[in-house]
Amino acid sequence: MESAVSGFFWSFDQEFCCFLVVTVLLIFLILYFARPRVWCKCEICQSYMNTSWKNHFDNLCDWYTYLLKKSPTQTIHIHVLDNTITANPVNVEYMLKTRFDNFPKGKPFSAILGDFLGRGIFNVDGDLWRFQKKMASLELGRTSIRSYAFEVVHHEIEQRLVPLLESVKGKEDIFIDLQDVFRRFCFDSICRFSFGLDPKCLELTLPISKFAVSFDLASKLSAERAMTVSPLVWKMRRLLNIGDEKKLRKSIKMINKLAQEVINQRRKFGFSDQEDLLSRFMTSVSDETFLRDIVVSFLLAGRDTVASVLTSFFWLMANHPEVEAAILVEADRVIGQNKEITSYEQMKELHYLHAAMYESMRLYPPIQFDSKFCLEDDVLPDGTTVKKGRRVTYHPYAMGRSEELWGTDCLEFKPERWLKDGVFFPENPFKFPVFQAGIRVCLGKEMALVELKSVAISLLNRFHIELAPPQTTTPRFSPGLTATFHGGLQVLVRAQSGPSTLKNVYSAVK
Ligand code: HEM
Repeated sequence: MESAVSGFFWSFDQEFCCFLVVTVLLIFLILYFARPRVWCKCEICQSYMNTSWKNHFDNLCDWYTYLLKKSPTQTIHIHVLDNTITANPVNVEYMLKTRFDNFPKGKPFSAILGDFLGRGIFNVDGDLWRFQKKMASLELGRTSIRSYAFEVVHHEIEQRLVPLLESVKGKEDIFIDLQDVFRRFCFDSICRFSFGLDPKCLELTLPISKFAVSFDLASKLSAERAMTVSPLVWKMRRLLNIGDEKKLRKSIKMINKLAQEVINQRRKFGFSDQEDLLSRFMTSVSDETFLRDIVVSFLLAGRDTVASVLTSFFWLMANHPEVEAAILVEADRVIGQNKEITSYEQMKELHYLHAAMYESMRLYPPIQFDSKFCLEDDVLPDGTTVKKGRRVTYHPYAMGRSEELWGTDCLEFKPERWLKDGVFFPENPFKFPVFQAGIRVCLGKEMALVELKSVAISLLNRFHIELAPPQTTTPRFSPGLTATFHGGLQVLVRAQSGPSTLKNVYSAVK
């Protein structure tokens, strides 16, 4: 008995010693590899390391915007992260088009998001990317896709979104988190659109979705991996299954389980004669893990981006009644007073609304920055040298706030800047890379725009959104792969005032 007990303690000691040795070794390795960068003494790196930038800026993207503005080339380098960041459209075109092959996502990026996104389209290069792009383009590039998106979205608006907001309209003591509502709305819409299934997240009871909660956590924790000074930091935590890595593993386990349910259901209802994206992929992919990765990627693509744009758009509407009024005046003219929009074709006539949406995305892009890795030593058109293996980031958030690109009124919300003689006029996509640009441009842009404009016009026609106190002049964002308002968007829902009142507001500001 005694020897069994001492044997237990001996083996326990041995395990503990091994653990200690591995930990010390890993710490040593981290210190060794991260050494030259962590100890960079330049002002920017010091400010990044001791987070003193927070004394002056609400968000990291605001600090980067400030730094990029000060740089004569609109490009900066953060030594501790070995990260070159640019807001220069000529550099952006070079990365995303001219030298596309030299700026892939790269292995470091794939490793950071690998556990969450696996081999999904956002996380791969080469043949795996080409295959998924081809399949997705076939589906998302169909001309009928906009009308199909219109139908899916309008069903969700009429059956769930409007009844939910009607139920709280005019109630002075009920604040509702509009960001949460939009995420649920987008989750239902993208599932019906991409997988032909309805998760019913936006039912009146606002059921807690384990999938959605795990999804948010995995997105946040994966993004935070990219903020550590050396990948060894998160890799060690992952190996030891401690801290945030433990939480990430747990949330990914839940996502895997639920993604598998989506696949099983699609299989049960049949997929060979179905038109949705997942069914298309299922006809040529039999690897369950790969299908799981495809499901997760399309959820990320379609839910968080659109919900993020809707959140900032309604925040802007609450702060700009003159724009809200102008949108409604246009809708009255195109659709008719108090009438519902009935087709995608009708929506195309709403140029001012389209411009307001683009203006909202200029100031608040849902993907604030996007990184690639340099394959071979290169020189950007502005003269910045980029070493092999370096992370290179283009920054749509900073670009949208650049005086050089948008003029001295760049911080003002002015949809008119997108109109010529009342007609929407698109900008150079490398100056406005909100949907990325070049070879890997977003494939869901048309679907997204149908969704964004449909929600905007349907809600603005019925409701006026008022922000709950305390109101801030700029939003604070939470870390994540897409821009998310910290604390959500708490609002009161009121009835929309009549068109004549709005017209008065409109003429008063004109
Ligand atoms: C306002 C909404 C949206 C914005 C701003 C947006 C933006 C972007 C951006 C910046 C990328 C490049 C990401 C990267 O390579 O790192 C991208 C890629 C992509 N997006 Fe979107 N997206 C939106 C909505 C959607 C929707 C609704 C779908 C699908 C239905 C979608 C499907 C895709 C796909 C498949 C790609 C991958 C393209 C490729 O790698 O070849 N997006 N999007």
